[in-house]
Amino acid sequence: MSDYEGVEDTLFIPLTARINISKIFPEYFYDDKALEMENLVKDKQIEKKSSQYTMMASVARSYNLDQMTQEYIDKHDKCNIVNLGAGLETSYFRIDRKNSHYFEVDLPDVIELRKNFIGVGENEKFIKGDLFKLDWCNELDTTLPILMIVSGVFQYFHEEEILEFIRKAKDIFENAELIFDATNKFGIRYSNIYVKRTGNKSALMYFYIENPKEFAKKADCQLIECRGFYRDAIKMLSNKLSLYTKISMKIADKRNNAMILHLRL
Ligand SMILES: C[S@@+](CC[C@H](N)C(=O)[O-])C[C@H]1O[C@@H](n2cnc3c(N)ncnc32)[C@H](O)[C@@H]1O
Repeated sequence: MSDYEGVEDTLFIPLTARINISKIFPEYFYDDKALEMENLVKDKQIEKKSSQYTMMASVARSYNLDQMTQEYIDKHDKCNIVNLGAGLETSYFRIDRKNSHYFEVDLPDVIELRKNFIGVGENEKFIKGDLFKLDWCNELDTTLPILMIVSGVFQYFHEEEILEFIRKAKDIFENAELIFDATNKFGIRYSNIYVKRTGNKSALMYFYIENPKEFAKKADCQLIECRGFYRDAIKMLSNKLSLYTKISMKIADKRNNAMILHLRL
């Protein structure tokens, strides 16, 4: 058993959500590559233990990260897009990648799973490794602009580990940006209850952000943007979401329960 087994297993939660929402709200989010992997999650009962809100939370994260990644690619001609803790995320297929180089970094077992079920695409590389050790940097041209995407991962670690990771990355890259999701203290409690309910008892979450500006200051980074998850989803799906989901989304955005930070390192 690897040290990270509980965290590795969490990759099935966002995959289930991408499949579920692609079926019920394709006008908001559609991921045909995720739909091809339905067999992988069908016996895991995650869908049964999830609410419409928790499914939307996972997918809204991908929706916003896709938008931010696309903006980055549109602004930079040749660049590196590095998905750290990639799991079975299929953003590679959802984004217009243009001249970017894509890297998917995850622990060895997950990369094997990814190879079997997704396969490596053009201008894409899979890298086995611990994202915090930064050995993956040796596999790419560090002089190119780089956008690191960390989705649904930092929560499982402690603030000091994340700050240390940012410090090391700042030393290595000349021109780097980082986008990642975070919750506040309330959000982390809610997320821990949900992950346990899906059957994963060992993946505990610790890291949360109460004040994004203060976090950026601590990390010695420029805060480019901090956005809530749900603005577009509420607009696009207003009449289709359950009342509970809609109210939860509005409260979450108002109170920073779930947010995406965009930092310049
Ligand atoms: C909740 S999943 C998220 C997967 C993907 N980012 C997504 O949004 O679908 C967390 C992922 O982080 C990976 N992970 C956890 N710790 C890691 C580490 N130290 N280095 C690299 N990957 C890690 C896990 O293996 C898992 O694939």
